[in-house]
Amino acid sequence: MSKLKTYFLCRNCGAMAPKWMGKCPECGAWDALDEMTKATEDPHRPKSLTVAAAHEAVVGVQGTYADSMPIAISEVPPLEVPRLPTRFAEFDRVLGGGIVPGSAILLGGEPGIGKSTLLLQALAQLASPSAGSVPVLYVTSEESAQQTQLRARRLGYGSSTLKVYAETNLEKIAAQIGRLRPALVVVDSVQMIYKPDNPSAPGSVSQLRDCCTELVYLAKASGTAIILVGHVTKEGILAGPKLIEHIVDTVLYFEGDSHHDHRIVRCAKNRFGNTLEIGLFRMTEAGLEGVEDASTLLLDRTHLGKDGQSPAGAVITAALQGSRVLLVEVQALTTDAMLGTAKRKVTGCDASRVAMIIAVLEKRAGLRLVDKDVFVNVVGGIKLNDPSADAAIALAIASAHINRSLAPSTLVLGELGLLGEFRPVAQAQQRLGEAERLGFAAAIVPVSKTKVPVKSKLTLHVCRRLDQAVALLE
Ligand code: TYD
Ligand code: MG
Repeated sequence: MSKLKTYFLCRNCGAMAPKWMGKCPECGAWDALDEMTKATEDPHRPKSLTVAAAHEAVVGVQGTYADSMPIAISEVPPLEVPRLPTRFAEFDRVLGGGIVPGSAILLGGEPGIGKSTLLLQALAQLASPSAGSVPVLYVTSEESAQQTQLRARRLGYGSSTLKVYAETNLEKIAAQIGRLRPALVVVDSVQMIYKPDNPSAPGSVSQLRDCCTELVYLAKASGTAIILVGHVTKEGILAGPKLIEHIVDTVLYFEGDSHHDHRIVRCAKNRFGNTLEIGLFRMTEAGLEGVEDASTLLLDRTHLGKDGQSPAGAVITAALQGSRVLLVEVQALTTDAMLGTAKRKVTGCDASRVAMIIAVLEKRAGLRLVDKDVFVNVVGGIKLNDPSADAAIALAIASAHINRSLAPSTLVLGELGLLGEFRPVAQAQQRLGEAERLGFAAAIVPVSKTKVPVKSKLTLHVCRRLDQAVALLE
């Protein structure tokens, strides 16, 4: 016989506690502990099928795990990964070329960002005769079928044959998947569905785990790809989605500011492709539109002077996001701080990297920033995690501080070392090419890595040190 034991699980970080506490001992989140009941281990109880076993069941069917014996890596038969393109080029780009049959994808994002819109559009396009009427199923656990129909009408898919199923009971959803055998199922959202034999409330840790594991197993066993929608709370706490990231094959996050019209789909994990690509969309009256010419979307040049000059504190750099180059603006502001309380506020790049850049500016370029509040913002919700943006961040801060700007249409590239030296960046040629295409006139660049000067029609100001670049501020 198994005995029931009570414990508490943090819905924020997944930490376990033996008794209820107001504050999680691990992550410090308040009121985040959920009561759980688990049966203590019973050796006679059959073990439930784990995700790994489910994987094996499917991969075994395809023959790669069958008769498992050690073999030379060169002799492993290649696994053919056929993909189902969604006809949404930007979505396919983040997925690595389309949806892999039998895979499980998690799409996380804040409420109202556009997850349901994106998936409804993708499914309706797949179900359209021009795409070969792919069998797809949209399970709506949050909205009624009528609400989904209204949205579909607004998006111009009112007469679509796409199947909608308004249900929250996992067993009924699984039965319909088994009956219809769709190529792709969307469950919107996973926080609202429940497994009837689990006494916890929908959205709780154990319901989420149970429902996801079962759906992923179903996907692997049936070859139906599944997209699970998960809400991220406003504070940025990935309450539900974080818990199930390890269960699924691909994790996508839909980001953006609901006050602006562009949206970014980022890949945090992908067992079938890289995680570098991002998908860019614009939210319009008629739903989401993919944006291929991304650079122009993010560069808002309305604040330029008559001669095209950027105001002091604004510097443009070329960031590499997967296979494409995005031109992004880094903005900085420095103001007098209260004695001893200088603040550094950073959005879109790493705060500790900015702290280092400020120290280098102080020490190697002679700027006094110790008594200044420094604000740095990367425009357009882009994250500049690549050190090639160091020089642009440094010049934006220097430009704001001394109130001088760079010559009109100047791009800045370069990594910054602690000695104040400019280091080369990867794929400089590709980045300069994009700037050239968009009509830039000049670029501040480090000495080339290969010692062969990069070729460009732009006027190149090759700088070895930060102070040389700061001297170019007019
Ligand atoms: P939604 O897809 O419901 O968000 P989520 O599923 O992530 O919660 O997005 C809703 C928002 O998108 C809402 O604020 C209205 C806006 N929207 C448009 O701007 N255009 C459209 O065509 C649609 C359908 C929604
Ligand atoms: Mg929704």
